[in-house]
Amino acid sequence: MESFRNRLNKNTIPEHVAIIMDGNGRWAAKHGKARVFGHESGVESVRSVVEGAGEIGIKYLTLYAFSTENWDRPKEEVDALMELLVHAIEIETESLMKNNVRLSTIGDIDSMPTKVKEKLERCIDFLNSNTGLNLILALSYSSKWEIVNAVKELVQDVMNNKLKPEIINNELFENYLNTAEIPDPELLIRTSGEYRISNFLLWQIAYSELYFTEKLWPDFRKDDLFEAVFDYQNRERRFGKTSEQLIS
Ligand code: IPE
Ligand code: IPE
Ligand code: MG
Repeated sequence: MESFRNRLNKNTIPEHVAIIMDGNGRWAAKHGKARVFGHESGVESVRSVVEGAGEIGIKYLTLYAFSTENWDRPKEEVDALMELLVHAIEIETESLMKNNVRLSTIGDIDSMPTKVKEKLERCIDFLNSNTGLNLILALSYSSKWEIVNAVKELVQDVMNNKLKPEIINNELFENYLNTAEIPDPELLIRTSGEYRISNFLLWQIAYSELYFTEKLWPDFRKDDLFEAVFDYQNRERRFGKTSEQLIS
C-alpha cells in the first residue's frame, strides 16, 4: 500500500496539528511491562511525528505531554515522567536542531520541577532561531486552568484601566491565552481509542476536525500522522455555512 504521504494534497496541509498522546500505560501492559516502559517507548513516536510534521510542512505541532490532572497519578509515575522528560530533552535536542525545530511550551511551567524547567529553558533558547516546525509541549496544562488564568489577567487590565470591557471580543480574549500568536489547530488527533478531550485546548478546538485512532501512542508513527492528515483533507469544513455556499 502506497504511503499516505504521497496521497496528500500539498496545498491543504493543516498549519497546526494538536495531538493527545494517549495509551502508553496500556501499551506497556500489553507487553507485560511497567507503565513507565510505555512512556519511554512513546518518545520514539514523538521523534517520528515531529520529523513527519516537518517533512510535510506543518507549521505548529502541539503535543499534550502532561496534564494538570496527571499530577494526581502515583508519585512514582509522576517522578518517572519528570525524569523521562529531562532525559528526552537531553537526547533529542541535537536532532531537533538538525530538523530546524523551534520549541515552546504551554501550561503551568512554574509547577514543574526545577530540573525540568531549566532543561526546557536551555533547549528553548538553543533552538530559538530555527525557522521550521514550531513544536509546542503542553506540560502541566489544562484548558480550564488556561482560561481562568486568562480571565484573571484580563480583569486585572480592566481594573487598571488598561482595557475597556466593551472592546473585549474573541480576538482580544485569545491574546490572554497561552496560545496567543499560535493559530487554532485545524486538526486534533487522539490515540488509544478514547473519545474525549481531557481538558485540552477547549477554546482553540472550537472548529477543529477531530480524529480518533485505536492505535496506542507508542505504536504511532509519522505515517499514522500522514493518514490523519489525509483523512482531514477529505472532510468538508463548513464553518456553519451550507455545502452549496462553499462551492460557489
Ligand atoms: C499517556 O498515556 C501519557 C500521559 C498521560 C502522561 P497514559 O499513561 O495515559 O496511558 P494509558 O491511558 O493509561 O494507557
Ligand atoms: C490525557 O491523557 C493527557 C495526556 C495525554 C497528557 P490521560 O490518560 O491523562 O486522560 P484521561 O484521564 O484518560 O482522560
Ligand atoms: Mg491515558
